Amino acid sequence: MSDALSRRRFLALTGAGAAGLALVACGGSGGPIRITSADPSVAAAEAQRRRPGAAVRDVAVTAGAGAISLAQRMDTTWDYNQTVPGPEIRLTAGEVLRAKITNNLPEATTIHWHGLALRNDMDGVPGVTQKPIPPGGSFVYEFATAAPGTYWFHPHFGTQVDRGLYAPLIIDDPHEPGGYDRELTVVLDDWLPATGPSPGGTLKALKAGGMGSMQMARSPLLGGDAGDVTYPFFLANGRTATDPQVVDVTAGERIRLRLINVGSDTAFRVAVGGHRVTVTHTDGFAVVPTTTDAVLIGMAERYDAIVTIAESGAFPLVALAEGKGNQALVVLRSSPGAANPPADVHPAELDGQVIQAPDLRAAPAVTLASRKPDRTFPVVLQLAPQGYRWSINGRSVDDAADVLTLAEPLDIRRGERIRLVFDNRTTMFHPMHIHGHTFQIVGPGGSAGPRKDTTIVKPQQQVTVDFDADNPGQWLMHCHNLYHMEAGMHGVISYVR
Ligand code: C2O
Ligand code: CU
Repeated sequence: MSDALSRRRFLALTGAGAAGLALVACGGSGGPIRITSADPSVAAAEAQRRRPGAAVRDVAVTAGAGAISLAQRMDTTWDYNQTVPGPEIRLTAGEVLRAKITNNLPEATTIHWHGLALRNDMDGVPGVTQKPIPPGGSFVYEFATAAPGTYWFHPHFGTQVDRGLYAPLIIDDPHEPGGYDRELTVVLDDWLPATGPSPGGTLKALKAGGMGSMQMARSPLLGGDAGDVTYPFFLANGRTATDPQVVDVTAGERIRLRLINVGSDTAFRVAVGGHRVTVTHTDGFAVVPTTTDAVLIGMAERYDAIVTIAESGAFPLVALAEGKGNQALVVLRSSPGAANPPADVHPAELDGQVIQAPDLRAAPAVTLASRKPDRTFPVVLQLAPQGYRWSINGRSVDDAADVLTLAEPLDIRRGERIRLVFDNRTTMFHPMHIHGHTFQIVGPGGSAGPRKDTTIVKPQQQVTVDFDADNPGQWLMHCHNLYHMEAGMHGVISYVR
């Protein structure tokens, strides 16, 4: 079935066509006017963000076909600049990033700068903030950066993010207090090899087979289903556990780990054998430092944690694919002769204390000022009784490009404090993400949970988050499980005036 046809069928089935018409009418006769990415207020917000004389960092990114060595066998993939992960982009907060992307893929693409509060017209959402970049085409993203932290970038086009199209984006803090000797970025991914079903084929099979085609991965930590897709490989920095990256370190060294989950359908439980780690940031924003054995990372989430290498040896940094019986590995080796741990090493820390987002508190410097919300929106997450069709507030939107016509927008106004109540009425966890803003999880009794842009909402759980409406435009809100997103879980937060 063609996309157009399936869209039409969806409209007929749900009566969403009428809502689409209502949306078009809005703004005509006294209704709210949507602030689109082309609105002058978007450029004005950027002008405010730009520091006079800010350095401009030029980078070139090419999306194209490439190769990856998987468990010592070559496989083909799509990637950025011929590496998986793609090249890390690094700059200092306040600088301007100017990234020229050249599309050598056989299909259109875009880049989304995940987690950044950037100008809306550079957010990389096809049909919402820009036209797709056609095969052979190019596009220049240029925007001022604001908050420092650990971010990443990826396409916002179909199922492309489940190929090798992802890379870290690190924004250094000019006032970094330090407390560590070096850094290590660890990018975690679930991997479909080119020899098996493609991401697009996997999505089709899920839609055709409904729940029946889903794997039964289970995890008590995630409160139920742990995933819908069976992955033969899990990668840390592009390597399998049988052929892991080995990082030479020295005993006593303090390493700031920047853990990034770029997976499409897998949460990872991460621990370092023989060590506890101190979590310092999540999704780029500082938390009250919290020491733990392990940390649970949903799709698109990031955690920064400091580990002090205890002694001489070869220590496994294990990323357990939660509920999926497999893992990725990086070896931290402080003794040159030490043998690598086995691929299936299971350090005791994995079964110790596992930090999850609600366990953390925002650092005082990034805590939102206490304020009553001006508007509260329920964000109800559901699965249709039949078929593989996920929804937000009753609307199922397959493609980000359709979100402005098919989703029921959450209308907000600049300057407001907004509260979202994610309400998961399904049997599976959803890592819920909003573009262009970093919310704060509302903890028990209204306490200040961590600032984040993506957070796990477990089955039958409600998670309340607040954010300040300070970045005009049209912003996606979606589940960062790629297959849920492409099977309906898209919404939009819409600035209006
Ligand atoms: Cu990584 Cu729409 O996001
Ligand atoms: Cu989901």
